[in-house]
Amino acid sequence: MDQQGTETDPHDLDGSRRRFLVGSSRLAMLAGLVAGYGAFGRIAARFLYPAHAEPRQWQFVADLKRLHTGESLRYVAPTGEPVAITRRGNRGDSSDFVALSSTCPHLGCQVHWQAQEDRFFCPCHNGVFDPSGKATAGPPADAGQSLARYPLKVERGLLFIEVPVERVVRGDGRPRAGGRA
Ligand code: FES
Repeated sequence: MDQQGTETDPHDLDGSRRRFLVGSSRLAMLAGLVAGYGAFGRIAARFLYPAHAEPRQWQFVADLKRLHTGESLRYVAPTGEPVAITRRGNRGDSSDFVALSSTCPHLGCQVHWQAQEDRFFCPCHNGVFDPSGKATAGPPADAGQSLARYPLKVERGLLFIEVPVERVVRGDGRPRAGGRA
């Protein structure tokens, strides 16, 4: 019985309690959705607009006259990343050259060029790559991986490569070369 002397219907009490609980759970669900979309938005924004783009620079490699067709040279980027630069043509422009990371995309061993086989070979798990860097055998081929490729340009008879110039620290604390390597 209430103060006016009327009795409160217990069913009404259950109804208002139910309405309160439904309203609260809808509010919680809405808050969860907003938080979820907010987190998704932050991740998407970080992916689309990285806080600061990885610094890359054009670096001098060699005078074209010093690298003949079929020859390869080893270049080390400022990050320490070894790159194999091979001359495959004689037009005198950047299309003559291919610059590939020497780091195997499978587990990071160093690949080396086997001229007689016309291929790059990774001794760790017998990974094989064609001269363009595409994996043709071993675990990298199974995973559809390729050696990372770097842009090249020729200016006034000189060959330049575009490479990352800062190290990026991976989640496991080990440094890795930034960029597409
Ligand atoms: S690390 Fe190169 S094939 Fe495994």
